[in-house]
Amino acid sequence: MASLEVDLSGIEEGNTVTVKWRGKPVFIRHRTADEISEAENTDVTGFRDPQTDAERVIDPKYLVVVGVCTHLGCVPIAGAGDYNGWFCPCHGTHYDISGRVRRGPAPYNLEVPEYRFLDDEHSKAV
Ligand code: FES
Repeated sequence: MASLEVDLSGIEEGNTVTVKWRGKPVFIRHRTADEISEAENTDVTGFRDPQTDAERVIDPKYLVVVGVCTHLGCVPIAGAGDYNGWFCPCHGTHYDISGRVRRGPAPYNLEVPEYRFLDDEHSKAV
């Protein structure tokens, strides 16, 4: 299975980087304290794909998601949309700062790929 090692230490708080993994973009967001608290305190009752933030992260500081819209596969734009997360310009899906679908036609949240941290400081992930 192809894996990819990413140095997270260069990702500043509040920034998203995109890496390529198995031919797909993967977004890594270094979330701010406010973003973490927003993600954790969102009531997911009634969401199309209800998942708590804790179900989607290993360390809440870093959100790691496949950057492919679950509707028809476009690449959503970071820092856009009405929920402080991503916006898919193809048909208007809004994802929040946990990558959960909040509005638009996408059926599922942005997929969380399998990953792990390689050190205690969580400065590297694979
Ligand atoms: Fe993203 Fe349709 S592909 S909303």
